[in-house]
Amino acid sequence: MIISLRSLSYGDLKKQLVPEDKIVIMSCNTCVKACGIGGAAMMSKLEDMLESDGYNVLGRDLVSIGCTVNLIEKHRSDEKKKDMYDAATVIIPLICQDGLEGVKYVFRDKKVLCVAKTVGIGNFTMDRGPVLTHPFESTGMAPNDNGYALPEVAEKLNLFSGFFNEKEVDQSRKEHVALTIDGRNISALKGENLLAVCKENGIDLPHLCYHEDLSEYGACRLCLVKIKGRKDFAAACCTHAEEGMEVVTHDEELNTCRRILLELLMASGHHDCLTCSKGVPTPMASCELQKLIRQADIGGSRYEESSETKPADDSSPVIYYDPDKCVLCGRCVRACGEISGLSNLGFINRGGRTAVAAGLNKEINQSACAACMACVNVCPTGALNEKVVYFSGAGWTPSKKYMSL
Ligand code: FES
Repeated sequence: MIISLRSLSYGDLKKQLVPEDKIVIMSCNTCVKACGIGGAAMMSKLEDMLESDGYNVLGRDLVSIGCTVNLIEKHRSDEKKKDMYDAATVIIPLICQDGLEGVKYVFRDKKVLCVAKTVGIGNFTMDRGPVLTHPFESTGMAPNDNGYALPEVAEKLNLFSGFFNEKEVDQSRKEHVALTIDGRNISALKGENLLAVCKENGIDLPHLCYHEDLSEYGACRLCLVKIKGRKDFAAACCTHAEEGMEVVTHDEELNTCRRILLELLMASGHHDCLTCSKGVPTPMASCELQKLIRQADIGGSRYEESSETKPADDSSPVIYYDPDKCVLCGRCVRACGEISGLSNLGFINRGGRTAVAAGLNKEINQSACAACMACVNVCPTGALNEKVVYFSGAGWTPSKKYMSL
């Protein structure tokens, strides 16, 4: 992976802005995200900081791979984003220096501010996060197979590791509401996504179709909650915090519903995951469906498993698509539209035959896929997987309980 660090302090960034600027913040969703200086959460943080200092931020835009000029162009011309980009005078891309050149080219009529410095190539380690193994010659650092941790690199090169942290954002200018969740008094921003509020407050609410980088969808219904005064259960991921809300996230009835939904999902495909790399729980990728099944202590589905087997799509050089592991959460479809800007993935057919397909039912390599991996990165199961790791197989630790069956 490309290793980049932050090159500017927040104060220095502000010196390059004037009060009349209309700002759009962009971010690549790959290497800079892993390096802690990009991604959706960092864009949101920077937006908060700038707005609290009185700057006019028109919006944010997440791009799956920022160093692909085609994708940046797609984002600029996207119908939903075109007005925002047309009105912008300044683009702040959270992106490596390679990607920066593409952004400067696509937005050559705007001021583009650089906040990152790319220092070389490295990899991601489980214990130390990203490390720099092959520094660029210009850094004067020697190659290091073990890799330099980013704080060390930052110190050596007079850069900053991590995101802007010089300014505490004043949240009091935003409207807050008081609500209770499972009897706890909680303060949240008015209109904040209720599932996000639960997450922020350490309340574990099962979910599959929700993803913080994507638009709200409400397909899987696992995040159902009870809200006092409402007749039906509500999907927390499509509900917004309001003053006085009283929310129940777990009780026997809700948990029973979730168990049924999980068992139906298990029966709807083939979730026998011995060959799937996402069967191995790791911080980078693990099967969210399996995790939920384990948490709910479900040993097997009471429903008959679908006998139909859908053919896998092995046509892409980098993506392996196994539709039998797809839970139709729609994350990949939204990521392909919202983060890659291609809208190449979509749903085909109806009812029990509904499936995700590329290019209106083509093989992936025959479609407009840019292999940006936006879909793979958000897929909660092994349906969309990086080919190079797919067949690495699942970890297998049989529990006593299942061994005795
Ligand atoms: Fe809320 Fe799927 S996570 S409906």
